[in-house]
Amino acid sequence: MKPSLLVLTVALVIATPSAARAQTAADTPVAVYLPGLGDLMTMTVQPRHIKLGLAGREKNWAYATYELAELNEALNRVAKLRPRWRDFAIAEMMRAVTKEPLGELADAIKSADGVRFAQSHGKLTESCNLCHQSTGQGVIVIKVPETSPYPDQNFQPARK
Ligand code: HEC
Repeated sequence: MKPSLLVLTVALVIATPSAARAQTAADTPVAVYLPGLGDLMTMTVQPRHIKLGLAGREKNWAYATYELAELNEALNRVAKLRPRWRDFAIAEMMRAVTKEPLGELADAIKSADGVRFAQSHGKLTESCNLCHQSTGQGVIVIKVPETSPYPDQNFQPARK
């Protein structure tokens, strides 16, 4: 994901001289929005998990490679931005539960193996839920997507 609008906004606020900032603030109040863990999950992790699943189902390996890298980035950013949540060491837990399935997904994509992809994406999905259960958030149940919620995106491989 490109640097988010949020980071851009924060950078702009920092870069703007205070006099100019005061004026801007008077015209358009600027509030800095800090997404919580649940927001980051919903905004960045969940869509990547869905898109990766759809890519693999369509055997679109080039796109699956891209989307797996995006998911990796999203998870790393969550761990960096929210290393702790309540009493839980989110960064460490993230690595512990997702490392293996993410590695298996990379192998499955490299070898263009649809069966292995489905198995490892299923395993990744279990790791999402394992962490939700371990953090007392067992009401959040992730599953492998059956349909696409993105009517404007083609998940099939590009025709040569
Ligand atoms: C390291 C632990 C951890 C892992 C791994 C994890 N999550 Fe989460 N997730 C949480 C916690 C804790 C919350 C609740 C945060 C809050 O309420 O602010 C959450 C919340 C969410 C939510 C918000 C629920 C809602 O309905 O609003 C979604 C969606 C979500 N996770 C998806 C995923 C997906 C998909 C994966 C796997 C690719 C995943 N999570 C992996 C810890 C984790």
